[in-house]
Amino acid sequence: MEQMEWKTRRKIMSERKLHIKTWGCQMNVYDSNKMADVLAPVGYRLTDDPAAADMIILNTCHIREKATDKVFSELGRLREIKDARAAQGQKMLLAVAGCVAQAEGEFIIERAPYVDMVFGPQTYHLLPEMVLDALGDDAKRKRVVNTDFPTEAKFDFLPAAQSPDGPSAFLAIQEGCDKFCTFCVVPYTRGAEFSRPVSAILDEARNLRDQGACEITLLGQNVNAYHGAGPNGRTVGLGALIAAVAEIEGISRVRYMTSHPKDMDQNLIDAHRDIDKLMPYLHLPIQSGSDEILEKMNRKHTAAHYLDIVAALRKARPDIALSTDFIVGFPGESEAHFEESLALIREAGFASSFSFKYSPRPGTPAANMPGLLREDVKSERLQRLQDLLYSQHIAFNASCVGKTMPVLFDRPGKGQDEELHGRTAYNQSIHVKGKPRLIGQILPVEITGAFPNSLAGKLETGEYMAA
Ligand code: SAH
Ligand code: SF4
Ligand code: F3S
Repeated sequence: MEQMEWKTRRKIMSERKLHIKTWGCQMNVYDSNKMADVLAPVGYRLTDDPAAADMIILNTCHIREKATDKVFSELGRLREIKDARAAQGQKMLLAVAGCVAQAEGEFIIERAPYVDMVFGPQTYHLLPEMVLDALGDDAKRKRVVNTDFPTEAKFDFLPAAQSPDGPSAFLAIQEGCDKFCTFCVVPYTRGAEFSRPVSAILDEARNLRDQGACEITLLGQNVNAYHGAGPNGRTVGLGALIAAVAEIEGISRVRYMTSHPKDMDQNLIDAHRDIDKLMPYLHLPIQSGSDEILEKMNRKHTAAHYLDIVAALRKARPDIALSTDFIVGFPGESEAHFEESLALIREAGFASSFSFKYSPRPGTPAANMPGLLREDVKSERLQRLQDLLYSQHIAFNASCVGKTMPVLFDRPGKGQDEELHGRTAYNQSIHVKGKPRLIGQILPVEITGAFPNSLAGKLETGEYMAA
Protein backbone atom coordinates (compact mmCIF):
# COMPACT_ATOMS: atom_id res chain seq x y z
CA MET A 1 0.00 0.00 0.00
CA GLU A 2 2.76 2.41 1.03
CA GLN A 3 4.75 1.63 -2.06
CA MET A 4 1.71 2.18 -4.22
CA GLU A 5 1.16 5.59 -2.65
CA TRP A 6 4.77 6.55 -3.26
CA LYS A 7 4.56 5.45 -6.90
CA THR A 8 1.30 7.29 -7.34
CA ARG A 9 2.68 10.50 -5.89
CA ARG A 10 5.70 10.31 -8.19
CA LYS A 11 3.50 9.86 -11.22
CA ILE A 12 1.20 12.77 -10.50
CA MET A 13 3.65 15.27 -9.12
CA SER A 14 2.49 18.53 -10.52
CA GLU A 15 -0.78 20.11 -9.49
CA ARG A 16 -3.72 18.97 -11.57
CA LYS A 17 -7.27 20.24 -11.76
CA LEU A 18 -10.29 18.14 -10.91
CA HIS A 19 -13.89 18.91 -11.80
CA ILE A 20 -16.71 16.86 -10.24
CA LYS A 21 -20.34 17.07 -11.33
CA THR A 22 -22.81 15.46 -8.96
CA TRP A 23 -26.36 14.22 -9.49
CA GLY A 24 -28.68 12.30 -7.17
CA CYS A 25 -28.99 12.11 -3.42
CA GLN A 26 -27.03 13.60 -0.51
CA MET A 27 -24.95 10.43 -0.33
CA ASN A 28 -23.60 11.29 -3.76
CA VAL A 29 -22.73 14.81 -2.55
CA TYR A 30 -20.87 13.24 0.38
CA ASP A 31 -19.11 10.79 -1.95
CA SER A 32 -18.02 13.59 -4.30
CA ASN A 33 -16.44 15.44 -1.37
CA LYS A 34 -14.65 12.23 -0.38
CA MET A 35 -13.39 11.69 -3.94
CA ALA A 36 -11.85 15.16 -3.80
CA ASP A 37 -10.30 14.29 -0.41
CA VAL A 38 -8.86 11.01 -1.75
CA LEU A 39 -7.35 12.74 -4.79
CA ALA A 40 -5.96 15.79 -2.95
CA PRO A 41 -2.79 14.02 -1.67
CA VAL A 42 -1.88 13.04 -5.24
CA GLY A 43 -2.08 16.61 -6.48
CA TYR A 44 -5.64 17.16 -7.69
CA ARG A 45 -7.27 20.48 -6.75
CA LEU A 46 -10.96 21.23 -7.41
CA THR A 47 -12.06 23.60 -10.16
CA ASP A 48 -15.56 24.78 -11.13
CA ASP A 49 -14.54 25.00 -14.77
CA PRO A 50 -14.77 21.71 -16.73
CA ALA A 51 -12.78 23.21 -19.62
CA ALA A 52 -9.78 23.76 -17.31
CA ALA A 53 -9.87 20.29 -15.78
CA ASP A 54 -7.29 17.51 -16.15
CA MET A 55 -9.85 15.08 -14.85
CA ILE A 56 -13.66 15.21 -14.84
CA ILE A 57 -15.73 12.89 -12.68
CA LEU A 58 -19.46 12.57 -13.28
CA ASN A 59 -20.95 11.23 -10.06
CA THR A 60 -24.20 9.81 -11.34
CA CYS A 61 -27.68 8.71 -10.26
CA HIS A 62 -29.66 5.77 -11.67
CA ILE A 63 -32.89 6.21 -9.73
CA ARG A 64 -35.11 7.20 -12.68
CA GLU A 65 -34.66 6.91 -16.43
CA LYS A 66 -34.26 10.68 -16.82
CA ALA A 67 -31.40 10.73 -14.32
CA THR A 68 -29.50 8.13 -16.36
CA ASP A 69 -30.18 9.85 -19.71
CA LYS A 70 -28.61 13.06 -18.40
CA VAL A 71 -25.27 11.29 -17.99
CA PHE A 72 -24.98 10.33 -21.64
CA SER A 73 -25.96 13.77 -22.91
CA GLU A 74 -23.38 15.34 -20.56
CA LEU A 75 -20.74 12.88 -21.80
CA GLY A 76 -21.44 14.00 -25.37
CA ARG A 77 -20.71 17.61 -24.37
CA LEU A 78 -17.57 16.72 -22.44
CA ARG A 79 -16.18 14.73 -25.35
CA GLU A 80 -15.78 18.04 -27.23
CA ILE A 81 -13.75 19.50 -24.36
CA LYS A 82 -11.64 16.36 -24.21
CA ASP A 83 -11.01 16.46 -27.99
CA ALA A 84 -10.09 20.17 -27.83
CA ARG A 85 -7.61 19.45 -25.03
CA ALA A 86 -6.14 16.50 -26.97
CA ALA A 87 -5.64 18.79 -30.01
CA GLN A 88 -3.42 20.92 -27.74
CA GLY A 89 -1.50 17.82 -26.69
CA GLN A 90 -3.11 17.66 -23.23
CA LYS A 91 -4.57 14.58 -21.67
CA MET A 92 -7.91 14.87 -19.91
CA LEU A 93 -9.34 11.93 -17.99
CA LEU A 94 -13.07 11.42 -18.15
CA ALA A 95 -14.59 9.26 -15.41
CA VAL A 96 -18.11 8.03 -14.67
CA ALA A 97 -18.75 7.23 -11.00
CA GLY A 98 -21.78 6.53 -8.84
CA CYS A 99 -24.91 4.49 -9.42
CA VAL A 100 -25.03 4.58 -13.25
CA ALA A 101 -21.41 3.38 -13.27
CA GLN A 102 -22.36 0.53 -10.94
CA ALA A 103 -25.43 -0.46 -12.97
CA GLU A 104 -24.02 -0.11 -16.48
CA GLY A 105 -20.30 -0.88 -16.00
CA GLU A 106 -18.55 -1.79 -19.30
CA PHE A 107 -21.60 -0.76 -21.27
CA ILE A 108 -20.75 2.90 -20.65
CA ILE A 109 -17.42 2.47 -22.44
CA GLU A 110 -19.10 0.58 -25.27
CA ARG A 111 -21.52 3.46 -25.75
CA ALA A 112 -18.98 6.24 -25.05
CA PRO A 113 -15.49 4.85 -25.88
CA TYR A 114 -13.81 8.15 -24.96
CA VAL A 115 -14.58 7.48 -21.26
CA ASP A 116 -11.39 6.47 -19.40
CA MET A 117 -12.74 5.26 -16.07
CA VAL A 118 -15.96 3.73 -14.74
CA PHE A 119 -16.15 3.00 -11.03
CA GLY A 120 -18.94 2.22 -8.59
CA PRO A 121 -19.77 3.80 -5.21
CA GLN A 122 -17.84 1.18 -3.20
CA THR A 123 -14.47 1.58 -4.94
CA TYR A 124 -13.55 5.25 -4.94
CA HIS A 125 -11.07 4.87 -2.06
CA LEU A 126 -8.91 3.18 -4.76
CA LEU A 127 -8.98 6.28 -6.98
CA PRO A 128 -5.22 7.08 -6.86
CA GLU A 129 -4.41 3.61 -8.21
CA MET A 130 -7.20 3.77 -10.80
CA VAL A 131 -5.95 7.17 -12.00
CA LEU A 132 -2.45 5.78 -12.29
CA ASP A 133 -3.73 2.92 -14.46
CA ALA A 134 -5.77 5.23 -16.65
CA LEU A 135 -2.91 7.71 -17.09
CA GLY A 136 -0.27 4.95 -17.61
CA ASP A 137 2.51 5.19 -20.18
CA ASP A 138 0.88 4.89 -23.57
CA ALA A 139 1.85 1.23 -23.97
CA LYS A 140 0.43 0.30 -20.58
CA ARG A 141 -2.49 2.71 -20.54
CA LYS A 142 -5.78 1.01 -19.97
CA ARG A 143 -9.36 1.83 -19.36
CA VAL A 144 -10.45 1.22 -15.81
CA VAL A 145 -13.77 -0.42 -14.96
CA ASN A 146 -14.30 -1.20 -11.29
CA THR A 147 -17.76 -2.14 -10.10
CA ASP A 148 -16.74 -4.47 -7.27
CA PHE A 149 -18.30 -4.45 -3.86
CA PRO A 150 -14.96 -5.00 -2.06
CA THR A 151 -15.02 -6.87 1.22
CA GLU A 152 -12.82 -4.28 2.94
CA ALA A 153 -14.82 -1.36 4.22
CA LYS A 154 -14.24 1.66 1.99
CA PHE A 155 -14.66 3.96 4.98
CA ASP A 156 -11.49 2.60 6.64
CA PHE A 157 -9.46 3.89 3.69
CA LEU A 158 -10.89 7.40 3.43
CA PRO A 159 -8.86 10.35 4.72
CA ALA A 160 -10.32 12.90 7.14
CA ALA A 161 -12.27 15.69 5.42
CA GLN A 162 -9.98 18.19 3.74
CA SER A 163 -12.48 20.29 1.89
CA PRO A 164 -14.95 21.47 4.52
CA ASP A 165 -18.55 22.01 3.46
CA GLY A 166 -19.02 25.06 5.67
CA PRO A 167 -21.26 25.21 8.72
CA SER A 168 -23.53 22.39 7.58
CA ALA A 169 -21.91 19.03 6.80
CA PHE A 170 -22.98 15.55 5.72
CA LEU A 171 -21.69 12.46 7.49
CA ALA A 172 -22.40 8.97 6.05
CA ILE A 173 -23.16 6.53 8.89
CA GLN A 174 -24.83 3.75 6.93
CA GLU A 175 -24.81 2.72 3.33
CA GLY A 176 -26.69 0.27 1.14
CA CYS A 177 -30.15 -1.21 1.43
CA ASP A 178 -31.63 -4.64 2.11
CA LYS A 179 -35.26 -3.57 1.68
CA PHE A 180 -35.68 -4.29 -2.04
CA CYS A 181 -38.69 -2.11 -2.78
CA THR A 182 -39.81 -3.49 -6.15
CA PHE A 183 -39.34 -0.19 -8.02
CA CYS A 184 -35.89 0.71 -6.72
CA VAL A 185 -32.33 0.26 -8.03
CA VAL A 186 -30.53 1.27 -4.83
CA PRO A 187 -30.05 -2.25 -3.36
CA TYR A 188 -28.31 -3.19 -6.63
CA THR A 189 -26.21 -0.05 -7.06
CA ARG A 190 -25.16 0.49 -3.43
CA GLY A 191 -25.09 -3.11 -2.24
CA ALA A 192 -26.00 -4.61 1.13
CA GLU A 193 -26.66 -2.56 4.23
CA PHE A 194 -23.53 -1.61 6.15
CA SER A 195 -23.31 0.45 9.38
CA ARG A 196 -20.09 2.21 10.38
CA PRO A 197 -18.82 1.78 13.96
CA VAL A 198 -19.80 4.49 16.44
CA SER A 199 -16.19 5.51 17.19
CA ALA A 200 -15.41 6.20 13.50
CA ILE A 201 -18.56 8.31 13.19
CA LEU A 202 -17.78 10.34 16.32
CA ASP A 203 -14.20 10.92 15.10
CA GLU A 204 -15.51 12.18 11.77
CA ALA A 205 -18.09 14.39 13.53
CA ARG A 206 -15.35 15.98 15.69
CA ASN A 207 -13.20 16.50 12.64
CA LEU A 208 -16.06 18.25 10.83
CA ARG A 209 -16.64 20.38 13.94
CA ASP A 210 -12.95 21.33 14.01
CA GLN A 211 -13.30 22.47 10.40
CA GLY A 212 -16.22 24.75 11.23
CA ALA A 213 -19.34 22.58 10.96
CA CYS A 214 -22.01 23.12 13.62
CA GLU A 215 -24.80 21.22 11.88
CA ILE A 216 -24.39 17.56 10.96
CA THR A 217 -26.75 15.54 8.80
CA LEU A 218 -26.27 11.81 9.36
CA LEU A 219 -26.72 10.08 6.04
CA GLY A 220 -27.73 6.63 4.90
CA GLN A 221 -29.88 5.10 2.16
CA ASN A 222 -31.75 3.59 5.09
CA VAL A 223 -30.37 5.67 7.88
CA ASN A 224 -32.69 4.48 10.63
CA ALA A 225 -31.72 0.86 9.97
CA TYR A 226 -28.38 1.93 11.48
CA HIS A 227 -26.97 -0.69 13.89
CA GLY A 228 -23.28 0.02 14.36
CA ALA A 229 -20.72 -1.45 16.72
CA GLY A 230 -20.55 0.62 19.88
CA PRO A 231 -18.27 0.62 22.90
CA ASN A 232 -17.86 -2.80 24.59
CA GLY A 233 -19.01 -4.57 21.44
CA ARG A 234 -22.63 -3.55 21.97
CA THR A 235 -24.78 -2.71 18.94
CA VAL A 236 -26.02 0.88 18.89
CA GLY A 237 -29.17 2.12 17.12
CA LEU A 238 -29.77 5.50 15.53
CA GLY A 239 -31.44 7.09 18.59
CA ALA A 240 -28.38 6.41 20.77
CA LEU A 241 -25.98 7.48 18.02
CA ILE A 242 -27.78 10.81 17.65
CA ALA A 243 -27.48 11.33 21.42
CA ALA A 244 -23.71 10.71 21.22
CA VAL A 245 -23.26 13.11 18.27
CA ALA A 246 -25.38 15.75 20.03
CA GLU A 247 -23.05 15.56 23.06
CA ILE A 248 -20.12 16.83 21.02
CA GLU A 249 -19.38 20.37 22.07
CA GLY A 250 -19.74 22.77 19.15
CA ILE A 251 -22.34 20.68 17.32
CA SER A 252 -25.59 22.62 17.62
CA ARG A 253 -27.88 20.82 15.19
CA VAL A 254 -28.31 17.19 14.17
CA ARG A 255 -30.45 15.82 11.33
CA TYR A 256 -30.71 12.41 9.65
CA MET A 257 -31.91 11.11 6.31
CA THR A 258 -33.36 9.06 4.64
CA SER A 259 -35.54 6.99 6.95
CA HIS A 260 -37.82 4.05 6.27
CA PRO A 261 -41.13 3.85 8.19
CA LYS A 262 -40.49 0.22 9.18
CA ASP A 263 -37.32 1.17 11.10
CA MET A 264 -38.86 4.10 12.99
CA ASP A 265 -38.49 2.52 16.45
CA GLN A 266 -39.50 3.91 19.85
CA ASN A 267 -35.91 4.86 20.78
CA LEU A 268 -35.70 7.06 17.73
CA ILE A 269 -39.11 8.60 18.35
CA ASP A 270 -38.04 9.27 21.97
CA ALA A 271 -34.86 10.92 20.68
CA HIS A 272 -37.10 13.57 19.08
CA ARG A 273 -38.58 14.23 22.53
CA ASP A 274 -35.33 14.15 24.50
CA ILE A 275 -32.62 15.69 22.32
CA ASP A 276 -32.97 19.44 21.78
CA LYS A 277 -30.23 19.49 19.16
CA LEU A 278 -32.18 17.03 17.00
CA MET A 279 -34.06 19.31 14.62
CA PRO A 280 -37.87 19.07 14.63
CA TYR A 281 -38.05 18.02 11.01
CA LEU A 282 -38.13 14.55 9.44
CA HIS A 283 -38.06 13.26 5.88
CA LEU A 284 -40.04 10.02 5.96
CA PRO A 285 -40.91 8.68 2.50
CA ILE A 286 -44.23 6.84 2.17
CA GLN A 287 -44.48 6.37 -1.67
CA SER A 288 -48.25 5.62 -1.69
CA GLY A 289 -51.32 5.89 0.54
CA SER A 290 -52.80 2.61 -0.73
CA ASP A 291 -52.08 -0.62 1.14
CA GLU A 292 -52.51 -2.67 -2.04
CA ILE A 293 -49.91 -0.58 -3.86
CA LEU A 294 -47.59 -0.50 -0.82
CA GLU A 295 -47.75 -4.29 -0.80
CA LYS A 296 -46.86 -4.49 -4.50
CA MET A 297 -44.04 -2.08 -3.81
CA ASN A 298 -42.78 -4.42 -1.04
CA ARG A 299 -42.66 -1.43 1.31
CA LYS A 300 -43.32 -3.57 4.41
CA HIS A 301 -45.62 -0.96 5.99
CA THR A 302 -49.26 0.09 5.64
CA ALA A 303 -50.80 3.56 5.43
CA ALA A 304 -52.19 3.14 8.97
CA HIS A 305 -48.74 2.23 10.30
CA TYR A 306 -47.33 5.37 8.72
CA LEU A 307 -50.06 7.52 10.29
CA ASP A 308 -49.39 5.89 13.69
CA ILE A 309 -45.72 6.88 13.41
CA VAL A 310 -46.70 10.43 12.50
CA ALA A 311 -48.98 10.58 15.55
CA ALA A 312 -46.24 9.19 17.84
CA LEU A 313 -43.71 11.69 16.48
CA ARG A 314 -46.10 14.60 17.00
CA LYS A 315 -46.78 13.42 20.54
CA ALA A 316 -43.03 13.24 21.23
CA ARG A 317 -42.25 16.55 19.56
CA PRO A 318 -45.38 18.65 18.98
CA ASP A 319 -43.60 21.18 16.74
CA ILE A 320 -42.19 18.52 14.36
CA ALA A 321 -42.75 19.04 10.62
CA LEU A 322 -42.69 16.23 8.09
CA SER A 323 -41.60 15.75 4.56
CA THR A 324 -42.10 12.72 2.31
CA ASP A 325 -41.69 11.10 -1.12
CA PHE A 326 -44.48 9.80 -3.36
CA ILE A 327 -44.43 7.73 -6.53
CA VAL A 328 -47.54 8.06 -8.72
CA GLY A 329 -48.57 5.65 -11.46
CA PHE A 330 -46.97 2.50 -10.04
CA PRO A 331 -48.07 -0.53 -12.18
CA GLY A 332 -51.68 -1.40 -11.40
CA GLU A 333 -52.45 1.91 -9.61
CA SER A 334 -56.16 2.64 -10.12
CA GLU A 335 -57.87 6.00 -9.63
CA ALA A 336 -59.17 4.67 -6.30
CA HIS A 337 -55.65 3.69 -5.17
CA PHE A 338 -54.42 7.14 -6.18
CA GLU A 339 -57.17 8.83 -4.20
CA GLU A 340 -55.97 6.95 -1.12
CA SER A 341 -52.67 8.81 -1.54
CA LEU A 342 -54.53 12.14 -1.66
CA ALA A 343 -56.47 11.14 1.49
CA LEU A 344 -53.27 10.27 3.32
CA ILE A 345 -51.73 13.62 2.41
CA ARG A 346 -54.78 15.42 3.82
CA GLU A 347 -54.56 13.43 7.02
CA ALA A 348 -50.78 13.55 7.62
CA GLY A 349 -50.01 17.12 6.40
CA PHE A 350 -46.56 17.69 4.88
CA ALA A 351 -44.34 20.77 5.13
CA SER A 352 -42.31 19.62 2.14
CA SER A 353 -42.16 16.71 -0.32
CA PHE A 354 -40.75 15.14 -3.46
CA SER A 355 -43.01 13.32 -5.89
CA PHE A 356 -42.26 11.41 -9.05
CA LYS A 357 -43.91 9.54 -11.88
CA TYR A 358 -43.08 5.85 -11.69
CA SER A 359 -40.09 5.08 -13.91
CA PRO A 360 -39.49 1.40 -14.77
CA ARG A 361 -35.91 0.44 -13.95
CA PRO A 362 -34.22 -2.46 -15.71
CA GLY A 363 -33.63 -5.43 -13.43
CA THR A 364 -36.16 -4.43 -10.76
CA PRO A 365 -39.23 -6.64 -10.12
CA ALA A 366 -41.77 -3.86 -10.82
CA ALA A 367 -40.42 -3.39 -14.35
CA ASN A 368 -42.06 -6.71 -15.29
CA MET A 369 -45.35 -6.16 -13.46
CA PRO A 370 -48.58 -5.92 -15.45
CA GLY A 371 -50.68 -2.76 -15.50
CA LEU A 372 -48.16 -0.19 -16.68
CA LEU A 373 -49.89 3.21 -16.82
CA ARG A 374 -49.93 5.58 -19.77
CA GLU A 375 -47.65 8.60 -19.50
CA ASP A 376 -50.55 11.09 -19.72
CA VAL A 377 -52.38 9.32 -16.85
CA LYS A 378 -49.24 9.49 -14.69
CA SER A 379 -48.71 13.17 -15.54
CA GLU A 380 -52.28 14.10 -14.71
CA ARG A 381 -52.13 12.30 -11.35
CA LEU A 382 -48.76 13.82 -10.50
CA GLN A 383 -50.22 17.27 -11.16
CA ARG A 384 -53.17 16.67 -8.82
CA LEU A 385 -50.92 15.22 -6.13
CA GLN A 386 -48.47 18.10 -6.35
CA ASP A 387 -51.26 20.72 -6.32
CA LEU A 388 -52.42 19.32 -2.98
CA LEU A 389 -48.90 18.95 -1.54
CA TYR A 390 -47.82 22.44 -2.66
CA SER A 391 -50.90 23.99 -1.04
CA GLN A 392 -49.76 22.37 2.23
CA HIS A 393 -46.16 23.56 1.78
CA ILE A 394 -47.26 27.13 1.10
CA ALA A 395 -49.60 27.07 4.12
CA PHE A 396 -46.74 25.79 6.30
CA ASN A 397 -44.34 28.49 5.11
CA ALA A 398 -47.05 31.16 5.54
CA SER A 399 -47.66 29.99 9.13
CA CYS A 400 -44.06 30.96 9.93
CA VAL A 401 -44.51 34.64 9.05
CA GLY A 402 -44.42 36.88 12.12
CA LYS A 403 -42.54 34.28 14.21
CA THR A 404 -38.92 34.61 15.30
CA MET A 405 -36.89 31.50 14.46
CA PRO A 406 -33.26 30.48 14.92
CA VAL A 407 -31.47 30.48 11.56
CA LEU A 408 -28.10 28.93 10.75
CA PHE A 409 -26.36 31.13 8.20
CA ASP A 410 -24.54 28.78 5.83
CA ARG A 411 -23.45 30.81 2.79
CA PRO A 412 -23.67 34.17 1.02
CA GLY A 413 -26.98 34.77 -0.78
CA LYS A 414 -27.05 34.75 -4.55
CA GLY A 415 -28.67 38.14 -4.95
CA GLN A 416 -27.53 41.55 -3.87
CA ASP A 417 -24.64 42.43 -1.54
CA GLU A 418 -24.93 41.58 2.12
CA GLU A 419 -27.62 39.03 1.61
CA LEU A 420 -27.08 35.77 3.44
CA HIS A 421 -28.61 32.34 2.95
CA GLY A 422 -29.62 30.34 5.98
CA ARG A 423 -31.73 27.45 7.17
CA THR A 424 -34.44 27.33 9.80
CA ALA A 425 -34.89 24.34 12.09
CA TYR A 426 -37.38 23.05 9.48
CA ASN A 427 -34.64 23.21 6.86
CA GLN A 428 -36.44 26.01 5.01
CA SER A 429 -34.17 28.20 2.91
CA ILE A 430 -34.21 31.76 4.12
CA HIS A 431 -32.72 34.97 2.72
CA VAL A 432 -31.72 37.66 5.20
CA LYS A 433 -29.70 40.87 5.03
CA GLY A 434 -26.51 40.45 7.07
CA LYS A 435 -22.74 40.71 7.15
CA PRO A 436 -20.71 37.77 5.76
CA ARG A 437 -19.06 37.32 9.17
CA LEU A 438 -22.38 35.96 10.45
CA ILE A 439 -21.92 32.81 8.34
CA GLY A 440 -21.59 29.86 10.72
CA GLN A 441 -23.73 31.48 13.42
CA ILE A 442 -27.23 30.59 14.57
CA LEU A 443 -29.23 33.76 15.24
CA PRO A 444 -32.89 34.64 15.85
CA VAL A 445 -34.56 35.93 12.70
CA GLU A 446 -38.01 37.46 12.34
CA ILE A 447 -39.81 35.82 9.40
CA THR A 448 -41.21 38.54 7.15
CA GLY A 449 -42.22 36.72 3.98
CA ALA A 450 -43.12 33.26 2.70
CA PHE A 451 -42.73 31.81 -0.80
CA PRO A 452 -43.38 28.27 -2.09
CA ASN A 453 -39.73 27.20 -1.60
CA SER A 454 -38.20 29.76 0.74
CA LEU A 455 -38.69 32.44 3.38
CA ALA A 456 -37.53 36.02 3.85
CA GLY A 457 -36.56 37.42 7.22
CA LYS A 458 -34.73 40.10 9.12
CA LEU A 459 -32.18 40.17 11.91
CA GLU A 460 -32.42 42.47 14.89
CA THR A 461 -30.74 45.75 13.85
CA GLY A 462 -28.00 45.30 16.49
CA GLU A 463 -27.02 41.91 15.11
CA TYR A 464 -27.07 43.12 11.56
CA MET A 465 -24.96 46.22 12.30
CA ALA A 466 -22.43 44.60 14.67
CA ALA A 467 -18.94 44.70 13.15
N1 SAH B 1 -33.91 5.33 0.60
C1 SAH B 1 -34.96 6.19 0.42
C2 SAH B 1 -35.10 6.83 -0.94
C3 SAH B 1 -34.34 6.37 -2.09
S1 SAH B 1 -34.62 7.05 -3.66
C4 SAH B 1 -36.25 5.50 0.83
O1 SAH B 1 -36.25 4.42 1.29
O2 SAH B 1 -37.30 6.08 0.67
C5 SAH B 1 -35.48 8.57 -3.46
C6 SAH B 1 -36.88 8.53 -3.98
O3 SAH B 1 -36.92 8.28 -5.38
C7 SAH B 1 -37.75 7.42 -3.40
O4 SAH B 1 -38.23 7.74 -2.14
C8 SAH B 1 -38.83 7.29 -4.41
O5 SAH B 1 -39.90 8.18 -4.14
C9 SAH B 1 -38.17 7.73 -5.72
N2 SAH B 1 -37.96 6.59 -6.61
C10 SAH B 1 -37.17 5.51 -6.42
N3 SAH B 1 -37.27 4.67 -7.46
C11 SAH B 1 -38.13 5.22 -8.34
C12 SAH B 1 -38.67 4.81 -9.60
N4 SAH B 1 -38.32 3.66 -10.17
N5 SAH B 1 -39.53 5.65 -10.23
C13 SAH B 1 -39.90 6.82 -9.66
N6 SAH B 1 -39.44 7.24 -8.47
C14 SAH B 1 -38.57 6.45 -7.81
FE1 SF4 C 1 -34.91 1.97 -2.43
FE2 SF4 C 1 -36.76 0.99 -0.81
FE3 SF4 C 1 -34.18 0.77 -0.18
FE4 SF4 C 1 -35.34 3.16 -0.09
S1 SF4 C 1 -35.86 1.39 1.21
S2 SF4 C 1 -33.38 2.68 -0.99
S3 SF4 C 1 -36.80 3.05 -1.79
S4 SF4 C 1 -35.21 -0.20 -1.89
FE1 F3S D 1 -29.40 8.03 -7.11
FE2 F3S D 1 -27.73 6.22 -6.25
FE3 F3S D 1 -28.54 8.12 -4.63
S1 F3S D 1 -29.41 5.89 -7.64
S2 F3S D 1 -30.60 8.53 -5.37
S3 F3S D 1 -27.33 8.41 -6.43
S4 F3S D 1 -28.15 6.01 -4.09
